[in-house]
Amino acid sequence: MKLGICGLGTVASGAINVLKRNAESISGRAGCPIEVIQVGSRRLKDNCDLTGIDFTTDLFEVVSNPDVDVVIELIGGYELAKELVLKAIDNGKHVVTANKALIAVHGNEIFAAAAEKNVTVAYEAAVAGGIPIIKALREGMAANKINWLAGIINGTGNFILTEMKDKGREFADVLKEAQALGYAEADPTFDVEGIDAAHKLTIMASAAFGVPLKFDAAYTEGISELSTEDVVYAEELGYRIKHLGITRLHENGIELRVHPTLVPEQQLLAKVDGVMNSVLVDGDAVGQTLYYGAGAGSEATASAVIADVVDIARAITVGAGVLVPYLGFSSDKMTDLPV
Ligand code: HSE
Repeated sequence: MKLGICGLGTVASGAINVLKRNAESISGRAGCPIEVIQVGSRRLKDNCDLTGIDFTTDLFEVVSNPDVDVVIELIGGYELAKELVLKAIDNGKHVVTANKALIAVHGNEIFAAAAEKNVTVAYEAAVAGGIPIIKALREGMAANKINWLAGIINGTGNFILTEMKDKGREFADVLKEAQALGYAEADPTFDVEGIDAAHKLTIMASAAFGVPLKFDAAYTEGISELSTEDVVYAEELGYRIKHLGITRLHENGIELRVHPTLVPEQQLLAKVDGVMNSVLVDGDAVGQTLYYGAGAGSEATASAVIADVVDIARAITVGAGVLVPYLGFSSDKMTDLPV
């Protein structure tokens, strides 16, 4: 399976590095070799080794490359990403994206186009970085009527709140560090004003409740008005201030809201610190399940991107056998391992 990547930023370099490092096991899981053949970016960067990979500054070359089976869109943003993804679909390519803004705002149109062309658009990496939350909602919770979910779904915001609480640092100073660490969006107001979390919440609500994406319906409030004193006083009162995304199924509709919340310190969500994300899901059959992991960062997000690529490969290579645990299983290898 041949991949073409649009973008060469934090997540793209992570994906290229992980695909190279774990090539054998990834191909084994996929049931076929997986190879990046082309990368498109406005600028060449030295954040990963592109040996053997064609580089172009024309992103449209990637989505039109007849040898590319799967386009991985990692440029972020709305309009150019949408144009590229629709072009890729039109050219019969599967698409994997980490772009929550794109899916939350243009997802309905993109999924309709993909259905028409009988290709897959996968977006696990768009929500909660490396946590496989979309898979959990779509497949793991398939038996359930999901009642609600609540989560910390912006790593930058949680990193800022944690540093304010633990070290008494100022908001602006921590935000700068989050940007330097590659956690923040290109426009960090998306992180601190709750827009990024609202994108992710919209996508989770769609997967949880089986409804179209409706980003405009989300109530969105960020953390930029919070001071170090707020965070410290909340702690003195036995709470943590967490920036939560909450969606709930009501009789007459679906509620979507993102805002700072006082979470009692004994709750597990209160203990989620740093760039970590966590989502608590309530289903009528299973009860509550909790998901936790790195919500941003190069290889953590790349982990979810590559998982989507493997899913697409498995669906193509083995069809109904998609649940076989490891398609590259080798009994020879097993005998070499100490038991
Ligand atoms: N800026 C995002 C965050 C990146 O901090 O969570 C991962 O989606």
